[in-house]
Order: sequence, then C-alpha cells, then structure tokens
Amino acid sequence: MDGISTKQNVDKKVFKIAILPTEHKAVLDTCSALSQKGLAEIIFLKVDSQAQIDLDHLEKTCSKGIDLLSTMAANNEVGTIYPIQQIGEIAQHYGIPFLCDGSQAVGKIPINFSEWGITFLAISGHKFYAPKGIGALVLRRGQRLKPLIYGGGHQRGTRSGTLNVPGIVGLGEACRLRSREMAEDEQRIAQQRDRLQSLLQSAIPHLVVNGDLQHRLAGNLHISIPGIPNSAVIARVRNQLAISTGSACSSGVETPSHVLTAMKLPSEVIEGALRIGLGKFTTDDEVEQAADILISAYPICTQRLKTHRLAGWTAAVSIQLYFLKTFPSRETVATPVYDFIFASHGKLDDRIGISGFLSSGCATLSLCKLSA
Ligand SMILES: Cc1ncc(COP(=O)(O)O)c(C=O)c1O
Repeated sequence: MDGISTKQNVDKKVFKIAILPTEHKAVLDTCSALSQKGLAEIIFLKVDSQAQIDLDHLEKTCSKGIDLLSTMAANNEVGTIYPIQQIGEIAQHYGIPFLCDGSQAVGKIPINFSEWGITFLAISGHKFYAPKGIGALVLRRGQRLKPLIYGGGHQRGTRSGTLNVPGIVGLGEACRLRSREMAEDEQRIAQQRDRLQSLLQSAIPHLVVNGDLQHRLAGNLHISIPGIPNSAVIARVRNQLAISTGSACSSGVETPSHVLTAMKLPSEVIEGALRIGLGKFTTDDEVEQAADILISAYPICTQRLKTHRLAGWTAAVSIQLYFLKTFPSRETVATPVYDFIFASHGKLDDRIGISGFLSSGCATLSLCKLSA
C-alpha cells in the first residue's frame, strides 16, 4: 500500500497538527477527537511556567514538517499573550497553514490578520461584547476548507445554512466599537487589574500571580493562595463575587486545570488558583470591593482550614485508640494505618475535615478486616 495514492489512502491521511498544551478545550477536544478517529497526530508544543511558548521548539517542530499549526493568541485562564506575529512568521517560513484561535485576543489586543502570516483566524463574539452564539472564522483569500455543515453551498461552500443575521450585525457592530474603544478601555482595565493585584499582594502573604506578567491580557488576574484550596475561597465569596478556578467553560469540573498542569506549577499553587476577570464595565468601586471581599475571606479560610484539619486529626487518632484498645493483638495494623492517615490528610482540604474522619475510620476498619 505504501506510496500508492488510492482515493481511500488519500482520505485516510494522518495530518500532523501542532498545538499548545494550554489551548482551550475547544481546540484540545477537537484534536483529541481527530486523533481518536485516526485522522490526526497531535504534537504538543512546549510552554514554560508562565504558559509562554518556546519558539525554538516551535521552529524545530515546523522544520520537521507539519500539516497545520494551531495556537491561541491569548490564554483564557492565565491571560498570557502569545507572540502571534513571530509564530506566524515561523509558520510562513516553513509554508505551514496557521490557525490562530483569537477568541480571547480579538477586541482586546491588536491582531494584524493580513500581515502576520495567519491563515485562519477564529473569533468569538461574546468575548468582546457582541451577542452570545455568534463567531467567525476568517480565511485567507484563496483558502478552501471542506464544510462541516452541508446543504446549499453558502459561504462559497464553506458553511451551508441560513445565517444568524442579528448575531452577525451584533458582531460587526462590536468589531466597529472595539476598534474605536479598545486601546483606551484596555489601558484603564489594566490599571484596575494592577490596583486589585497590588491590594491583594499587600494583604495576602505568599500570594502568587500566574501567567506572563509582561505579556498578559488587561482583564485577567490569575492568582494562587498556596495552602488555601480555591474551593474554600470560592465557597466563602460566592454570593458576593463571581470568580472561577479556571476556564469558565469547564467550571464545575473538579479536575486540576490542564493549563496550570502544562505550566508545571507546584500542586499547592494549582490547588489554590483563582481566576478573576475584569472588563469594560468594571468600575473602580467594584475593584475595591472585590479586594475587600477576598482579603476578608483569607483569614477566615485559613482559620477554618486549621480547625477542620485539627478535627479530622482528632477523629482519626480517636479511632486509632479505639481500635488498638478493641483489638490489642493488632498492633501491627497501627503502622500502616497511621501511614495511610498521614498520606491522606496531606491531601484533604477544609471542606472535608469530616471525610478525613470517615476515610481514617474506613481505612482502619478495612485494614483491621484484612489482617484479622
Ligand atoms: C481561547 C478560547 N478559545 C475558544 C473558546 C470557545 O469559544 P465559544 O464558547 O464561543 O465556542 C473560548 C471560550 O472561552 C476561549 O477562551
């Protein structure tokens, strides 16, 4: 079969696609689906602890030959802005089509589609104050894509189906307004973000600010309070402040952020991560209020965490004493049980002081049962 270009063979070509590990799930999950269907091989580009791209590695990857390069222009969790112009130049140099996910960047920072070597640019309306449910894929002239939606050959055959006219008008108007207001708005938003950041830094010891602080979206403040699980802070401030632990689209998903994991941040920084968003309509008063709310939540969370941990430990030790008294010949059980409790308590957060109690009890019971 090698080298024989039958129709079936051509259809089954495995495309090499290079992406950042910090991409939005919209890109990651699509790539993973293509890979599972055997249609694509996904190559992950390297990022550093600020989520910034390693351009040397990108160049090496492109020089080996890939079919598509896809990188985001700015990261939705930590706000890192990628050097799209340089990335585009590298892609152009090696003749590689470049898909740029501009969802977080368009309307916030300048993106020069015509001069930066971008082949396809994806934008999402509601990220820059257009209505929800409208976006666009901008194609460089002469580029053709196979449609995902068939029927009627609209948009030169790229996407069939009746157009969402109100959405499109809203998107167009939002683009017009952003081109007039973006520079001034973003400068003010960055000042508000910096004010919030410095208020928090001065009141919360060891506060970590994540992302590339030199190249960061104005409206993004991504912090970690190491040692205080983000869930504890969110539970405390939920009714006053809308903040999240990661990508808004994944909120409610209790896995560590893939972005922070790709940045190889320490686990306590990942567990304490909070994403705060500011925008055109954020007022100075709201910034002060947000700082007050978070700053007053901090000592309460710290205190609760201590109390719950203590309660969990006390319960665990009581259970141990009970079992050692009840089964005096089971001393051998004690060491592994204590080891287990030490290990599991290291991972418990303040919500689950009670489950520390339960898990210690269950572990003790099952170990006693095992060795009985
Ligand atoms: C970087 C990035 N890409 C893609 C998306 C998906 O956009 P949409 O929800 O409009 O499909 C988002 C949404 O948050 C995003 O931040």
